[in-house]
Amino acid sequence: MATLKFLLVFILSLAFAFGLANSQSLQVGFYKKTCPNVEAIVKKATTDFVSRTPTLAAPLLRMHFHDCFVRGCDGSVLLNSTKGNQTEKDAIPNQSLRGFQVIDAAKSALEKQCPGIVSCADILALVARDAVSLINGPTWQVELGRRDGRVSILLEAIRNLPNPFDNFATLKSSFGALGLSVKDIVVLSGGHTLGVSHCFSFGSRLYNFTGKGDTDPNMDQNYIGQLKTKCKPNDVTTTVEMDPGSAKSFDTDYYTMVSKRRGLFVSDAALLTDSQTKAYVLSQLNSRGSTFFKDFGVSMVNMGKIGVLTGKSGEIRKHCAITN
Ligand code: HEM
Ligand SMILES: *[C@@H]1O[C@H](CO)[C@@H](O)[C@H](O)[C@H]1NC(C)=O
Ligand SMILES: *[C@@H]1O[C@H](CO)[C@@H](O)[C@H](O)[C@H]1NC(C)=O
Ligand SMILES: *[C@@H]1O[C@H](CO)[C@@H](O)[C@H](O)[C@H]1NC(C)=O
Ligand SMILES: *[C@@H]1O[C@H](CO)[C@@H](O)[C@H](O)[C@H]1NC(C)=O
Repeated sequence: MATLKFLLVFILSLAFAFGLANSQSLQVGFYKKTCPNVEAIVKKATTDFVSRTPTLAAPLLRMHFHDCFVRGCDGSVLLNSTKGNQTEKDAIPNQSLRGFQVIDAAKSALEKQCPGIVSCADILALVARDAVSLINGPTWQVELGRRDGRVSILLEAIRNLPNPFDNFATLKSSFGALGLSVKDIVVLSGGHTLGVSHCFSFGSRLYNFTGKGDTDPNMDQNYIGQLKTKCKPNDVTTTVEMDPGSAKSFDTDYYTMVSKRRGLFVSDAALLTDSQTKAYVLSQLNSRGSTFFKDFGVSMVNMGKIGVLTGKSGEIRKHCAITN
């Protein structure tokens, strides 16, 4: 028995020595020794902004999602473009990305206490969690240990971010390619309980769905009428709340909207076209029996693992908007 144990320890140390340690996974408490106050510092920075401006919670959650879907959760969404090099920030879907000042505030506070230790990618994951919990949403344990990438490319954002006109098959293959499940799709889409959308992200559903001046038959016609009073044809400036009346509060209303065929995007409506996601939407309508809060934490942890850089890969950026 003792020899067996010894052998096991020996083999494990060998594995580490040969660099398997580089493919180590994320862990809760990763900075316990190197930056013990990391969670409190990030939480303070997030609270400073979100308690004054609750509308910032939505773009802060979305920022982590955009980061993870393009090149993995590597902080690449934060990189400024340099001359002649357009980054993910320059992509059309960036237009409602806001709140970069929150990330910068957290980063500069962290650099004072533990310089060069905490990655921007990890800050994004923590800020997303704290933003959600500050507006009555769930909280969850964030696994840490991501490192920052050095590359950010405009075209990759255009190619890899889900499109609001995606149908279910497209969502399934884009989430699936990143290791996310059908359940993750329907749970993470619940993030649309927060925030606003530009009219152009769904406008053709109101005015010109198939190019014949028609509306989307999968959207409630009364709701189409209401939305038309806000969004004029080819409107590129107006925004509307995705969960009207409670866009600043994290709750299960998104599923109520989707079930009434009032989801704003084709991709929201698509959740009713698959039996598994449809059953989930309907199962969340009774808020007492809802599992959404617990599920959301689980799916956020899953999303936070996409394509992460760990060990000696990447770097720890000194400033989140520029590579070292
Ligand atoms: C399922 C695929 C998804 C699609 C097609 C999609 C698409 C979009 C679009 C088009 C907007 C509005 C952008 C605009 O016109 O200004 C938006 C907003 C938003 N999305 Fe998604 N999204 C998806 C998944 C997610 C996920 C996984 C999350 C987070 C967990 C998320 C969180 C948000 C939030 C919070 C907003 C509001 C942002 C704000 O108020 O500034 N979305 N999404
Ligand atoms: C990054 O770009 C933003 C504007 O998009 C600017 O305010 C900020 O100063 C830039 N940061 C760095 C470090 O260059
Ligand atoms: C988003 O991209 C547009 C160009 O499409 C650019 O003018 C704008 O500064 C970008 N926004 C941010 C926050 O980088
Ligand atoms: C600039 O663009 C090139 C090619 O698109 C890419 O290889 C390079 O990594 C980019 N630089 C940054 C900082 O992302
Ligand atoms: C509707 O779509 C068709 C085909 O894309 C286009 O030719 C037409 O100009 C559009 N109509 C409006 C009002 O935008």
